[in-house]
Amino acid sequence: MNTIQSIKGFNDVLPLESYKFQYVEKTITNIINSFGFLEIRTPIVEKTELFQRSIGDQTDIITKEMYSFIRNGEKSFTLRPEGTVGVARAILQNGLSGNKQKVWYNGYMFRAENPQKGRYRQFQQIGVEAYNLESTKMELELLVVASNIWKALGIDQSVSLEINSLGNAQTRIEYKKSLVEYFNLYKDKLDADSLIRLEKNPLRILDSKNEGIQDILKNAPKILDFLDNESLEKFNFIIKGLDYLKIPYTVNPRLVRGLDYYNDFVFEFITSNTGAQNTLCAGGRYDTLVEQIGGKKTPAVGFAIGIERLVLILDELELFEDKKSNDIYICTLGSTAYFEAFKLREELISKNPSLSIFINNEDLSLKNQLKKANKEGSDICLILGDNELAENKIVIKYMKLTTEQETVPFSEIISRLTA
Ligand code: HAM
Repeated sequence: MNTIQSIKGFNDVLPLESYKFQYVEKTITNIINSFGFLEIRTPIVEKTELFQRSIGDQTDIITKEMYSFIRNGEKSFTLRPEGTVGVARAILQNGLSGNKQKVWYNGYMFRAENPQKGRYRQFQQIGVEAYNLESTKMELELLVVASNIWKALGIDQSVSLEINSLGNAQTRIEYKKSLVEYFNLYKDKLDADSLIRLEKNPLRILDSKNEGIQDILKNAPKILDFLDNESLEKFNFIIKGLDYLKIPYTVNPRLVRGLDYYNDFVFEFITSNTGAQNTLCAGGRYDTLVEQIGGKKTPAVGFAIGIERLVLILDELELFEDKKSNDIYICTLGSTAYFEAFKLREELISKNPSLSIFINNEDLSLKNQLKKANKEGSDICLILGDNELAENKIVIKYMKLTTEQETVPFSEIISRLTA
């Protein structure tokens, strides 16, 4: 019989890899918590309509990437393609949208994309969102949070920040008009994809990877030239803050993002390490999203980090420590000694909760148990047999030193190991 395989683009995180994800998650959430963000958990499935109303009719996510399904004649449901919209729905539904909120989430998102390195159909994001913090100071805080994360993970030299402003709705209408006029001059040189975008969502042409289009883009109108004074002032405040804090950045006038809910400030942290899928973290301001899903105008801004991409970079830069082996490995001989080992383990942990203690539970000779302890790379091995126990003794073997093993009174072992 054939074995059943997982779905393409839906990956397992295996036991010897999961510690990397745990480390990255812990580092990020410690930093986010220290800035006063609180965790929010929202469902993985939402009504399809929620995403359709907010992400943009002509975006790739809505037109071709959603995992949607209908059950028993109910309205269509969708596996969330991203986290921002569900959080906005939860904030609004639970009457929190009138107050300041700083929240974070950690979870799987789903997009039916073509899988490749760094791009999966199920992928993990840790995101932060701030509501009712209208001032541009919040953008700066988010950029500082992200920069602190890169520093803590040791990748600040491998990540670069690109920023842009999309202005207000009127700016984008005028800019789109001017872009369409410009691209119409080059219509015969546009590829099929860009011709469709020209009709439906001309801003997306700015994202094109096609070399011919890139050439045309060099002289295309820039959105920054269309900003009104208010948007320009906001953008300049962020730039001033970044300069003051010595956070390096590049203004990329072609950065438009793949979701339609943004206004004014948008940004991406890019890395050269993960190949074509080089955006590690992305976000921006989205002051009209809550209104679009039925609430009042609620200023908001946030970002999300792609966790698999982050793990890929840290792996490539060899920044993960080797998987930690057990601190203490207990070998036992005889059933009473085996039972006693659990009591000993509990006492050791109560004195030092960060210890990792492994008790061998295979029916092996002492020699073979020691071989296993050696293979595991444990620092210390304790040998406890029914005979030693009867004599109130236990053997300590320091695996990484050449020192002979020593036999100590059983009553002293806790103080010896946790002093
Ligand atoms: P996004 O740019 O679609 O933005 O995704 C954010 C990050 O998620 C990307 O930069 C990337 O690291 C990761 N990512 C996206 N798609 C995939 C994929 N198929 N496989 C692996 N990683 C992926 C958003 O989702 C917005 N909700 C961000 C945001 C939060 N804006 C405001 N608040």
